[in-house]
Amino acid sequence: MSVPKHFLDIDRLDSGTLQGILTLGHDLKKSRKSGAAGRPLDGKTLVMIFEKPSTRTRVSFQVGMQELGGHTVILTDDQSQLGRGETVADTARVLSRYADAIMIRTDDPAKLIELEEYATVPVINGLTDQSHPCQIMADIMTFEERRGAIRDRKVAWTGDGNNVVTSWVHAAARFGFEMRIATPDELKPSDQLIAWADDGADLVVTDTWVSMGDEDAGTRHNMLSPYRVDDALMAKAAADALFMHCLPAHRGEEVTDSVMDGPQSVVWDEAENRLHVQKAILSWCLS
Ligand code: CP
Ligand code: NVA
Repeated sequence: MSVPKHFLDIDRLDSGTLQGILTLGHDLKKSRKSGAAGRPLDGKTLVMIFEKPSTRTRVSFQVGMQELGGHTVILTDDQSQLGRGETVADTARVLSRYADAIMIRTDDPAKLIELEEYATVPVINGLTDQSHPCQIMADIMTFEERRGAIRDRKVAWTGDGNNVVTSWVHAAARFGFEMRIATPDELKPSDQLIAWADDGADLVVTDTWVSMGDEDAGTRHNMLSPYRVDDALMAKAAADALFMHCLPAHRGEEVTDSVMDGPQSVVWDEAENRLHVQKAILSWCLS
């Protein structure tokens, strides 16, 4: 039996494959506009397992699969036997008999790996506590359409050291850009933060201070408030720097309304590009 083409993490794929997926994402976006897209996944089924909430991931995969001619089935924790203790391994074996691919959003990265081990169809990482590769593929696609290649550019992250920034770091290695991270391993003084941003970053990125599953919201708010993206911080980056946030955003916390809604923000394009890049990921996995 051939080995399935999994999309598990950006660092698990080579640069050529990743760039190929992005190129296909750009093409699929154009062909959707021109109405020229075919139905390459006609008759294929994607099962999506959600152990955590989602708006973008759920809808973009569902619409994307539909546009490619395929179907989706959604399993949630509370409405499947997974939630009652059936193992991931057994679930993987069963779902592989019904579906052509499996997407999972889960807390524990070990469940993704168990799924990979036992599934005989491609597995896609729709977020774990450790990484969020589909999001960062959409973000790089968004950067490319605004600014061209991301190679040798500077990306500045401020805020929590979470799953999203981990995938950014994986991407920095694969796409060859510089990643600067301001996150409180021990709270850095804000003048250091400003010095960090004041170096011509091409892109400023942040995310929620309290990810799904985090229970120390109070501590996080206190610790991370110096890391908020506001107009003053954006002014320290390159004049044409973009602002990204994977969403959902907590306006007034990690980012101000003026930045979210300002001219440098490309957050809605990022959200849209989840659709296009995931269609490319699905096409690659199932090709
Ligand atoms: N950015 C993202 O993954 O959003 P959802 O949690 O709504 O899927
Ligand atoms: N870091 C966030 C991303 C949500 C898309 C979380 O894990 O909750």
